[in-house]
Amino acid sequence: MVSPEAYEALRPASAPGEGDDRCSLRPKRLSEYIGQSQVVESFEIAVEAAKKRSDAVDHILLFGPPGLGKTTLANIVAAEMEVDIVTTSGPAIEKGGDLMGILTNLKKADVLFIDEIHRLPKAVEEYLYSAMEDYYINIVFDRGMHARSYRSRLEEFTLIGATTRAGLLSSPLRERFGIQRGLNFYSVEELVQVVVRSASLLGVTIEEDGVLEIAKRSRGTPRVANRVLRRVRDYADVKSNGKITRPVACDALRLEGINEDGLSILDRRFLETIIQNYKGGPVGLDAIAAVLHEESDTLADMVEPYLLKAGFLIRTPKGRKATERAYSSLGREAPVEANGQLPLLPEHKVRGT
Ligand code: ADE
Repeated sequence: MVSPEAYEALRPASAPGEGDDRCSLRPKRLSEYIGQSQVVESFEIAVEAAKKRSDAVDHILLFGPPGLGKTTLANIVAAEMEVDIVTTSGPAIEKGGDLMGILTNLKKADVLFIDEIHRLPKAVEEYLYSAMEDYYINIVFDRGMHARSYRSRLEEFTLIGATTRAGLLSSPLRERFGIQRGLNFYSVEELVQVVVRSASLLGVTIEEDGVLEIAKRSRGTPRVANRVLRRVRDYADVKSNGKITRPVACDALRLEGINEDGLSILDRRFLETIIQNYKGGPVGLDAIAAVLHEESDTLADMVEPYLLKAGFLIRTPKGRKATERAYSSLGREAPVEANGQLPLLPEHKVRGT
């Protein structure tokens, strides 16, 4: 009943390109999870309450930029509830039948994790409504005048949906999630804790200022911090004595194309395009995407959120503009605008832009 694509997606939760070894850096319990303290606290309460009542945890919607821990949290909720988790993604579930196969196999309180839930086909989404609200699905046999429908009961389960674009979710779907939480970028202090924990799990010797350098240059994102840590470890093993010092971290980061402010090659190409091709903006996202030969959605999900948050970019009603900070990070002089002012920094930006 389930298509090969949907089965393919039923693998242990891990981000694309991550093998088993990488999964081992993910925290397995809420008590190990660093950052997102309000989310963690509300999940602790939801799990404890559900266990007390022998219920499933309410359906959870997690939203926010990639790499902040949505998949990790879904796995942790299942582990804390001591239930199984089935992982799939919106685009992998092509037909209602795929979803039915998955739902009818869930046991009481199991977790179904749907990544990129905003990409679920509309027809599939509609099956979810009764499944989420009343734990049943209507299975329709035959067509036209011979059509018969049969109501199949499901076990009480928890749907955890993850999305980088909460705004793209239809309201009937969004409203069926009892718990809706956004994940924020991590502070440098929180990333320091993530790097220290991961270095200890990997058995790497790392000096304090090496940790700080990696944490400062990881775009507020634990997945980036862990990836950078692995690259720096490789570099230290090959070019030095295996110990990560600040100079070793800086050399390795330069080789990875990450600049002093933690901007990746794609971040810098994005800002360069605005500055070089559009005189600093304002410019629409599609125009930037066309110059870079990238999808607008990829840029909106993976590049823009951090640039906006860190003050390299602002959004105005007319489009994106590079800030003074962007010019300085790219080693460029910011132009003085016609009104004699420098390009706006986010804290000066006009309300509502
Ligand atoms: N590794 C990746 N994300 C983490 C987090 N939030 N807490 C602890 N370790 C992590």
